[in-house]
Amino acid sequence: MTDLPPETIKQQVRERYGAIARTGSGCCGPTDTADVCCGAPDAVADIVLADYTDLREQVLPEADLGLGCGTPTVVAALQPGETVLDLGSGAGIDVFLAAQAVGPEGHVIGVDMTPDMIARARANAAKAGYTNVEFRLGEIEALPVADAAVDVVLSNCVINLVPDKARVFAEIYRVLRPGGRFVIADMVTYGPVPAALRRDLDLWAGCIAGAMDREAYLDLIRAAGFADVHVATETVYDTSAVTGRPEADFGLASVTVVGRKP
Ligand SMILES: C[S@@+](CC[C@H](N)C(=O)[O-])C[C@H]1O[C@@H](n2cnc3c(N)ncnc32)[C@H](O)[C@@H]1O
Repeated sequence: MTDLPPETIKQQVRERYGAIARTGSGCCGPTDTADVCCGAPDAVADIVLADYTDLREQVLPEADLGLGCGTPTVVAALQPGETVLDLGSGAGIDVFLAAQAVGPEGHVIGVDMTPDMIARARANAAKAGYTNVEFRLGEIEALPVADAAVDVVLSNCVINLVPDKARVFAEIYRVLRPGGRFVIADMVTYGPVPAALRRDLDLWAGCIAGAMDREAYLDLIRAAGFADVHVATETVYDTSAVTGRPEADFGLASVTVVGRKP
């Protein structure tokens, strides 16, 4: 997918999201700081990748750093008592929305590899008084979660950031119980990202360079063993405007993909 070493990409991603966690500002949602963004730092960054305007008021507004590219909790039809896992949980917005849906009998786990993001999410949970959530520091390629322990896996604009996506889907399969389901919002492309852009670390951390071709992404999920895999929602973007690169001539979309473990 790229000749950049995976650890170099992950270090860049950790630094970018650590800085966002410390300053408390993303760019694609409630705040307007275009220098840190789920997009290129110099991008035309006033697009709204995911509209949490109403949702965040239901939980804790500062848990939404404007970093999502979908609203997976809206699609997931979460039920009271379910155990939910959010991959790359950031400041906790989807964890808190899930916690309200599953209620006191349910449980929600957020996993993130960036220590400052975990600290911020834990502070948010304490501030709002959630008792049915926890945040674990870890990588979603090696989840700190037991086998078959989860009813629903959520993720919002994270898997594009991971160099080894097959490993992530294998981990989702491992932690879901049989019959469990996933709802993943992510960035995908129509056609390949040019090699020069694939090597751009800012575009990796900005959720663009690591995005996979839409059909290849769905094939990878099916190859991990999931059934009923399909796109539930999709928004297509003007790639040059989002990336700030006129040479970005591929199609770009955010999709919400759902499926289940047989
Ligand atoms: C674009 S932000 C999305 C945050 C959150 N899902 C939201 O919608 O606000 C990506 C998050 O994924 C985390 N992340 C990226 N790669 C990861 C990995 N391999 N393992 C765990 N967390 C990761 C980052 O630290 C960051 O908090």
